Formats: sequence, structure tokens, C-alpha cells
Amino acid sequence: MTQLDDVKSRLDIVELVGGYVQLQRSGSSFKANCPFHQERTPSFFVFPDRQSWRCFGACADGGDAFSFVMKKERVDFREALARLGARVGITITDQSETAGRSQLLFGINDAARQFFQRSLAEPEAAFVREYLLGRGVSERSLQTFEFGYSPARDNRLLKHLTDAGYSAEDLVEAGLARTTDDGRYYDLFRGRLMIPIRDWSARVAGFGSRALDDNATPKYLNTPRTPVFDKSRILYAMNLAKEPVRQHGAVIVEGYMDAVMAHQHGFDNVVASMGTALTEHQVALVRRLTHRVTMALDGDPAGRNATLRSLESSWGVFQQRDQRSAGQAGASVLQQPEALDLRVAELPPGKDPDDYIRQSPNDWTEFIDGASPLFDYLLAALTDRVDTSTADGRSWAAQTMLRFVAHVPDPIKRDFYLDALSAHFGVDVATLRAAMPMAARPEGQSRRTNRAPVTADDATPLPGSDKNATEELVLKILLQHAEQVGEEAVKSVRSEWFSRTENREILRYVFSRMEPISNDEVSVTPELEQHFNQLLNSDPVLSTPAKIESALKQACLRLQREHSIDQNSQLTSAMDEEALMDPNSPAASLLRDNKNSLREIDQLRQPASPHHR
Ligand code: UTP
Ligand code: MN
Repeated sequence: MTQLDDVKSRLDIVELVGGYVQLQRSGSSFKANCPFHQERTPSFFVFPDRQSWRCFGACADGGDAFSFVMKKERVDFREALARLGARVGITITDQSETAGRSQLLFGINDAARQFFQRSLAEPEAAFVREYLLGRGVSERSLQTFEFGYSPARDNRLLKHLTDAGYSAEDLVEAGLARTTDDGRYYDLFRGRLMIPIRDWSARVAGFGSRALDDNATPKYLNTPRTPVFDKSRILYAMNLAKEPVRQHGAVIVEGYMDAVMAHQHGFDNVVASMGTALTEHQVALVRRLTHRVTMALDGDPAGRNATLRSLESSWGVFQQRDQRSAGQAGASVLQQPEALDLRVAELPPGKDPDDYIRQSPNDWTEFIDGASPLFDYLLAALTDRVDTSTADGRSWAAQTMLRFVAHVPDPIKRDFYLDALSAHFGVDVATLRAAMPMAARPEGQSRRTNRAPVTADDATPLPGSDKNATEELVLKILLQHAEQVGEEAVKSVRSEWFSRTENREILRYVFSRMEPISNDEVSVTPELEQHFNQLLNSDPVLSTPAKIESALKQACLRLQREHSIDQNSQLTSAMDEEALMDPNSPAASLLRDNKNSLREIDQLRQPASPHHR
């Protein structure tokens, strides 16, 4: 639970607002003269069940505890959070400090990158440049990939960066320095080829480094995990590959040099997983841009077995991710996203993409186009590994494949795969179905249902979670497809449709990004970073611009609709019978307006959404 949710769950809005105005009970809600404008008859209401407030009078505004404090105390979101945190006894740890730390570490990394690049130009590093040229790395790639050299002696980076004002402890946190047992600092990277690793937003998050002496171990030494570097969440060269990946699908290779060589030969949709088994996070990154992913596997048997094992476990996860985004609230307007099309191309024995591309660049495209769908690849690879003429061998291979199939959430696809297995192994479909491990499926399903975006303690219900999901859906589309959503479409989104202040704040950030004045990215309030990242990284769903546009339109209509319904039910629960019975009362006319706008919204919406209430 985030600090934010923690604060929310402990707050009671009736108590909070009651500290400012005299609340009177009115049915299931409370009313008062509006604290934001002058009035004689109360049109300001507080709803304990949804922990919200609304003024039906001149303000025509409403929201949650945060927006109440922001409006009443004229403070920004951070300050409101700090005050409410103090109120419920939660000290808001200064997350701006965390964000500030990250900024600092990125800054250090970038300074180190420059230092390494300069060092590569020095006479001492002539042998490194020769090494690179000898491997066929062009002068241009050297610049594009910002290769550098870490001097072998004298802790030169440490000296350089501490002279520049960074502390040695900061360098340790950045993963660039270490301490000895007796407390002295030293450079972690010494005498190595330095490869800066930029993250999704092109910030230098860490480094890979290659030994230049064939006997040195490890061959590659990477930045250890730091607050800004986690190898399993980054794909090397992604900062350069975004647009090509969007256009041509992604090709994932294993090594740094594989990606470099691919780009050098114009195959710029290539990114590298940096030697580890592909993770869910990495797939999610690619999935923001494309549904077509081809893995180019090195042709070495040891590595292949590891990859197979990792695919066994991860494939199900990928499938479920996809299915989840299809099945979650909002899917009806998004339609079925294109399923992840994961393919595998295996290089000839002893070769990696770097070797292959240098030797026969003209064959690369065809090689990638010839990749097998994952299912076919696995079936062939498994069959290859055992003697399928024996019952044991066949049974083992079939069982292993069934584990995959069991992970496929789409029953039609599952049947299709079962048929294929039946034909391949000469075993009855019914037998295969009976042998399919049962554990995998229910787990997948329960995981899906668990995903309802409940954000706080059950004791304090938050505004309807459906509404919340829709708010988040709109933001996800705006954040994940920022580049494709037109300015006009963004501007058509209204902040009053959102009832959660944190979502309104993120919308404000989206708007601020469209301001032409500033080049550098305006960042969200550090306290919202976690929420922001969740929205940015969760289940990317859309592929083509047309789909994005229509999904946004439909999601907005749905949000508007839920907003109206929300207001409507607030109105009916707030106003007493009498006010509603009198057709000339302001309440009755509000209600009429509200019903009319609902009707209009419904006319604009696509039919067949099962989510109506
Ligand atoms: P490989 O061992 O296949 O190396 O590791 P390579 O990319 O072909 O390297 P060259 O051609 O000998 O220079 C593939 C990737 O695995 C990671 C690196 O990201 C490497 O590019 N790796 C490998 C490590 O992180 N540490 C290691 O010790 C080895
Ligand atoms: Mn290699």
C-alpha cells in the first residue's frame, strides 16, 4: 500500500469536513452551508459511504478529502498530503528526497559516462579503440552507443567525480565505487570497455562493461542494482529503438554487442535483454509499442536450455497479462487487443547475432521473418531433446507442452494447441486434456479477479472502484500512448470527471506536458510517482493509432457517464424527498439536466458494453 492509500484509508471525511463547518445529518449523508461560497440554504454535502463531498450550488464542484483540503487551505497536493498525513499520524517520508536521490544518481551516471567517453579518446586507450574497430564497430556506432573506457589505475573516476563535488558515498550508491574493509574507496570499473545503459526515458541508469583481456573475469561486469538501475526492468538500446519497434515489431537479442551490430547495419528495431531470461517487465516495455516480438536466441545449447526453462515459466505470465488487459474493466471499448505474438529465431550453433550480422547482413531480415511461433519452437525444441520413440520420452515432452497449454487463458486457443499436440504425439485429445495440469488455470483466473483496483482498507470504502478503474484507464491511454494521442483529444478530457485527486493531479501533469515552453519533462509530485508508474507500466493494451483514438473516446464517454451517475446518486441521496418532488426546485432541475446529459452520453457510446449499472 502506498503512503497515499494509507493516509486515505485512515481518514474520515465527515470528521475532516466537520472540523471546518457545522454538518447536519441528512439521510445517509451530511449537509452544511458551503464553505467555499456564501449561501443561506445548504447545498454542500458530505457522503461518508463514498468518502466524498460535493457542492450542488454555485461551486458545482466536488471531490475527496485531498481536494477538500487543497481548496479550503489553498495548498497544493503535496502540502495537503502532508497535512492529512499528520492528522492521521503518518509521517510522510519526504519522497521528494527519493526523487532527488534518483536525479542525483542519474546525474552522477551521466558525468561518469562523459568521463569514460573522454578516457576512450586518450592515448592510453588506443588499444580499446583498436579492439572495437577489430570487432567491426564503426566510428559512428562508437558515438551512437557512447562507448567509453574506464582507466585501469589510480581510481581516476572517483577522483574526477569527487573533485566535481559528488561524495564518495554517492558514487557507491550509484554503483560506480566500492569500499575496502578498511574503509577506502575504489573504482568498481577498471580497465574496461564501458557501455552506458540508458533507460526508457533515455537517462543513464547504469553501465555494462567488458573485459578487454580474454582471461579476465567476469567478461561483462554490470552496474549492481541501484535505486535507478535494475537490469531486469531495462532493455538495452530501447531508447534508440522505440520508433522502429513501433513500426516493425521488436527483435530481442541477448548481448550488448549484438544490439550494437544490428543497429550499425540498419536493423534498428533490435534491443538486448542483457543476458538474463526475458522478464515480464521487459515484455511489458516492448508491449507498449508493439505486439510483435521476436527473440533471436544464440545458437549455444547451454544457453538454449536456460532460455527454454525461462520461457516455460514466463510464457504463461505473458499470456495472462494479455488476457488480463482484455478482460479487465474497459475491455469492451478497447476490443480485444492484439494478442502478443512471440516468436523465436534460433541462430546456427556457435553463432550469436553479432557474428551472424557481420557475416551475412543481407540474410538477417529473412532470418528474423522466418522465426517460429513460440509454441512451434518449443514443440520442436523439446522433441529434439528426448527420444520420442520411447513412451517415457514422448510422455515427458507432451507433459511439458501441456504445462504451457494449461497457461493459455483463451479456451479456443487452448483447444487449438491441444489438437496440434494430439497430432504431433499421436495421442487422443481427451487423454491430453485429462493430463493437463489443473493447477495452472484457476490460479490464472483468481489472479485476474484479484486485480480489482481496490486501493485502501476495506473499512473505508473509496469512491466506486468501477469509476476509479475508468479514471485510471483514461490516464493509462494518455500516458502510454502520449505520442499518438492528438492534442485536441487530450484537451477534451475534463478534470471534473475525475473524483480522485491523485488522478486529477496526473491529468494535470499530462496537460503540462503539452505546454510548448519547456523541453525537459515536467515531473509528477514525488508522492505520486508510485501511482504514476503503475499507470504507465500496467497492462499496455493498444496498438494502432485508430484503436487508441477510439479507445480514448469511448473511455472518456464511459468516464463521463460514471461521473453523471455518481453525481446523480449523490444528488438523490442528498436531497430530501420534498426538494425532488417539487419540479421547480433547483435539485429537481439539476437532476433533470443530469438525466439529459446521461441520455446524450449514451447516444454517443458504442453499444454492447456490459458494464452499465
Ligand atoms: P555473451 O557471453 O553471449 O556475450 O553474453 P556476447 O554478448 O556475445 O559478448 P562478446 O561478443 O563476447 O563481447 C550475452 C550478454 O549477457 C550479459 C551481457 O549483457 C552480454 O552482452 N552478460 C554476459 C553479463 O551480464 N555478464 C557476463 O559475465 C556475461
Ligand atoms: Mn558475441
